[in-house]
Amino acid sequence: MTGQVVVAADERSLADVEEMFGAVGEWQLLRSDRWVARYEVRDEALATKLTAKLRNAGHPAVVGPPDEARAVAWEKRNRPTPVGGRAEVCFPWIGSTAEIVIEIDPGVGFGTGDHPSTRLLLEELSSNITGNESVLDVGCGSGVLTIASVYFGADRAIGIDINTAGLQAAETNARRNRVSDRTEFFATPLNEICGNYDVVVANIHENILREMANDLVVRLAPNGWIGLSGVSPGQLSRLRGAFPQIIFEEPRTMEDWSALIGRRQIE
Ligand SMILES: C[S@@+](CC[C@H](N)C(=O)[O-])C[C@H]1O[C@@H](n2cnc3c(N)ncnc32)[C@H](O)[C@@H]1O
Repeated sequence: MTGQVVVAADERSLADVEEMFGAVGEWQLLRSDRWVARYEVRDEALATKLTAKLRNAGHPAVVGPPDEARAVAWEKRNRPTPVGGRAEVCFPWIGSTAEIVIEIDPGVGFGTGDHPSTRLLLEELSSNITGNESVLDVGCGSGVLTIASVYFGADRAIGIDINTAGLQAAETNARRNRVSDRTEFFATPLNEICGNYDVVVANIHENILREMANDLVVRLAPNGWIGLSGVSPGQLSRLRGAFPQIIFEEPRTMEDWSALIGRRQIE
């Protein structure tokens, strides 16, 4: 049995990785300034240890499939997530030929982009952002929705979360995707966030969405739209009931998950 470490690097970090391994890697260019190497090591335990060491040093790394039998399942788990026909969300160590490639390494934050509740909102952001919007992403996890908003044309996006370790991953992902100048991440509670936003998205449990309902609506600009996800089809009517100020469109559904997209009632 052997082990494998898969590690991604850019031109600056590539030499660091080789130094850590004490071996020159066979680097494959994935896209502009993104390289990947696969290091074969003695066994899986060593692969896990080296991967952890690389990750602690800030390098996006993952344990690769130890043998061909498990390669298919590994490739499936690591497949890019297509969004709107022009974009893909993928791990930094995975190739993509999409027009827009958003690299997400969630670390301890939630969200690789492939969960249906995330995908429902990614699709909405891809098709409904028209340009220059401000976006508030409540429960941003890895920052996937915050970062995608900017890629799809938003002027700036803010992500908030109660998981501070996850917020660090979000910041790293923003840097990796070169959108740090247009994204910010805070542990600030929603009710302390100032101002209002053209787009408010939240992919959180339904009970939390209901608890937050008023604070979410207060932060929505008069002509803005809100996207709520992370709920099952059976929870939709209760969720709608918590947002009497919003007129919702037909629910969006993917697998066993649903999302609501809405705008303020005109008074
Ligand atoms: C299902 S994850 C969504 C992550 C990411 N937005 C995505 O779509 O992949 C929900 C996130 O909400 C965060 N969360 C839970 N309660 C929260 C609260 N009251 N305020 C802010 N974030 C919260 C969790 O820490 C978690 O990161």
